Amino acid sequence: MKNLFQKYDVPAPRYTSYPTVPYWENTPSTDQWCTNLRTHLSSNDASFSLYIHIPYCETLCTFCGCNNVITKDHKKEVPYVESVLKEWSLYLQNVPEIRNAELKLLHLGGGTPTFLSADHLKQLLEPILKSVKVAKNFEGSIEVDPRRTTALQLQALRELGFNRISLGVQDFDPEVQRLINRLQPFEITERITEEARQLGYQSVNFDLIYGLARQTKDSILTTVSKTLELQPDRIALYSLALVPWIKPAQRLFKDEDLPAGEEKRTLYEVARFALLDAGYVEIGMDHFALPQEALSLSQKKGELHRNFMGYTDQKTPVLLGLGVSSISETPDMFHQNEKVLPTYFQQIEKEKIPTFRGHVLTDEDKRQRQQILEFMTKGKVKLAESQLKEAREFLKEMEKDGLIQFQESFLILTEKGHPFLRNACLFFDERLKRKQPTTQVFSKAV
Ligand SMILES: C[S@@+](CC[C@H](N)C(=O)[O-])C[C@H]1O[C@@H](n2cnc3c(N)ncnc32)[C@H](O)[C@@H]1O
Ligand code: SF4
Repeated sequence: MKNLFQKYDVPAPRYTSYPTVPYWENTPSTDQWCTNLRTHLSSNDASFSLYIHIPYCETLCTFCGCNNVITKDHKKEVPYVESVLKEWSLYLQNVPEIRNAELKLLHLGGGTPTFLSADHLKQLLEPILKSVKVAKNFEGSIEVDPRRTTALQLQALRELGFNRISLGVQDFDPEVQRLINRLQPFEITERITEEARQLGYQSVNFDLIYGLARQTKDSILTTVSKTLELQPDRIALYSLALVPWIKPAQRLFKDEDLPAGEEKRTLYEVARFALLDAGYVEIGMDHFALPQEALSLSQKKGELHRNFMGYTDQKTPVLLGLGVSSISETPDMFHQNEKVLPTYFQQIEKEKIPTFRGHVLTDEDKRQRQQILEFMTKGKVKLAESQLKEAREFLKEMEKDGLIQFQESFLILTEKGHPFLRNACLFFDERLKRKQPTTQVFSKAV
């Protein structure tokens, strides 16, 4: 395994979309985007998911790659809530079909959504939920920073129908926490987990990261065992993606302090084995869940889905993103909002849907997107007759190393191949094959 990690440690996308964002080229006009939404929301049984981005964080964690704005000024809450509500009303005007479609999933991400007070969360969410049909099996989820979360916020969200919560943990080791500027004693994570359970949240997720400065096999095993004490229903175990825009002066570690290559992958492997040993099920790539959790059940039934927010058990044709930098998707296009906050505000002020960029999928994109999705969620995909020869050639090293197999016209990921899922997906990435990036735009695959 040791050599395999070195061999396959190459840059590769995480494929939360295909084409991947650096390869988007033909942005739809705002009219085209709204017309496409109308098409997908007009049938009687239309459904959609909503993502709302709250960019603010009080302090900067120096590993963070999210789109965030660091501030302690809570006067920023109201103008932001008002802008997102204006954006929502622009959609209601331009895509009236939204009112009759079922809202199946609502996810609040960031930044830190709990930067907003309980009252402001209500002010934001109540009008949105009132203007649509909320599905019977509605899933409301939020990412919280346990250091900035109160029981009042959890209660307000629960009253609005939220039933899933994701806690940013990253690592329980105090020295690792110091180096990433995120001191978060175990007791805080424990308290929020318990409060969420008492309030009736069905599912608690922890985000962990491997590859952080000074993480060792022993320290990550301690993090896993503390995690197991709290038994989250789901766990995301992300590979640290290096974010070069955070200047070394702002952080307490140097790039050389970060475990890389085989050392980094060993951190994943020891954490993975400990989680599997404790009874968790591995979900697609870098996710784990308890066996009775919805993700595990839908993976078992072959119904797992993946979108910009990661793995999910509910599939809707439309994911609409509100707020600065949010990404939306339909079967035909991607659409991203303005990424810079003042520009986002200006566009909303002018009553414009804040289109920044996007991509209209070609027929080839749609085929490749479908195959990548199948492979990422099922570990198995049918190849077209015309793809077989090239696939055997492209993936011959992975086949020789026992990471994938060909069975008739199916490409199958083996148990041993699990950590190399992204490497195998490169075969389907026609755009990357045609044009290799000149600088590194993707993190390493393993
Ligand atoms: C928006 S944050 C979570 C909510 C909240 N802001 C918090 O930090 O608790 C989403 C997650 O992305 C992950 N993340 C952020 N930057 C990352 C990076 N550079 N590499 C890998 N994962 C990262 C972290 O695990 C983090 O919990
Ligand atoms: S990890 Fe969360 S709290 Fe930390 S800077 Fe990123 S978004 Fe903000």
